[in-house]
Amino acid sequence: MEEQIIEKNKKYWDDHADLWFGTTALPKYGVKFATEDDLHFFSEVEGKKVLEICCGSGHSLKYLADKGAEELWGLDLSQKQLDNAGELLKESGCNPKLICAPMEADSDIPQDYFDYVYSIYGIGWTTDLEGTFKKAASYLKSGGYFIFSWGHPLHYCVAKSYETGEDVVYNGALVFSRSYFDESYLKMPVHDTTVTFANRKISTFVNALYDAGFIIEKMIEQTDEKSLADTEDNSPKAQKAKMVPLSMCFKCRKL
Ligand SMILES: C[S@@+](CC[C@H](N)C(=O)[O-])C[C@H]1O[C@@H](n2cnc3c(N)ncnc32)[C@H](O)[C@@H]1O
Repeated sequence: MEEQIIEKNKKYWDDHADLWFGTTALPKYGVKFATEDDLHFFSEVEGKKVLEICCGSGHSLKYLADKGAEELWGLDLSQKQLDNAGELLKESGCNPKLICAPMEADSDIPQDYFDYVYSIYGIGWTTDLEGTFKKAASYLKSGGYFIFSWGHPLHYCVAKSYETGEDVVYNGALVFSRSYFDESYLKMPVHDTTVTFANRKISTFVNALYDAGFIIEKMIEQTDEKSLADTEDNSPKAQKAKMVPLSMCFKCRKL
């Protein structure tokens, strides 16, 4: 089953890569969410070796190259995404190492090598969270950082309208259509097809990080101040962002 999910998601990303060019990349961590300009998680990246898991179109790698990162590595299961990343980074004078493989698989990525392993809206695609965290830990030097963002699990529990695809807000209240405790795979409609991923509880992330040998230095789940203070935007998404987090981000260190 997991192999079929990876295969189907891969086809989605290969077919739709151009539509996602640069859309979920540093300095952004998420939707209506703090950015790297606020968080400074990569403040010591100059001269460092970095690996992005699910590097997509390479925009986050380029962002870190502009901040002085010395060695850039990217892993993604979509060759089309990697082709886009390769072009973008080459145009910027970078010489990244790009690897086409699922994050769940064994690969030739060096062990105990990187100062930063990170993933911006990528890690939640994994069909094996514990295994992926253990792999991330194995790539890092001792004391190295593992930073990742993903959709907040509460976000995926709120119902969406079949007609508009918008979150359902009724008289200022959110409608939940999925249990927070349900970690089974969900199929999300997107463009002309669906993609599949598991919606995992915060405790599942925290426990898997601990089991992989990480300590958590920071976890952010707060909607950004600007969106919280915004009284003009009354869209369902804006209302929702004031009541539940849409995104989350962890900064961890390998012990
Ligand atoms: C939202 S994009 C990330 C974009 C990236 N942060 C950037 O800067 O462009 C998610 C990426 O995850 C990749 N992906 C999905 N499932 C994966 C898996 N099992 N293993 C590796 N990559 C995967 C997709 O191909 C896609 O490029």
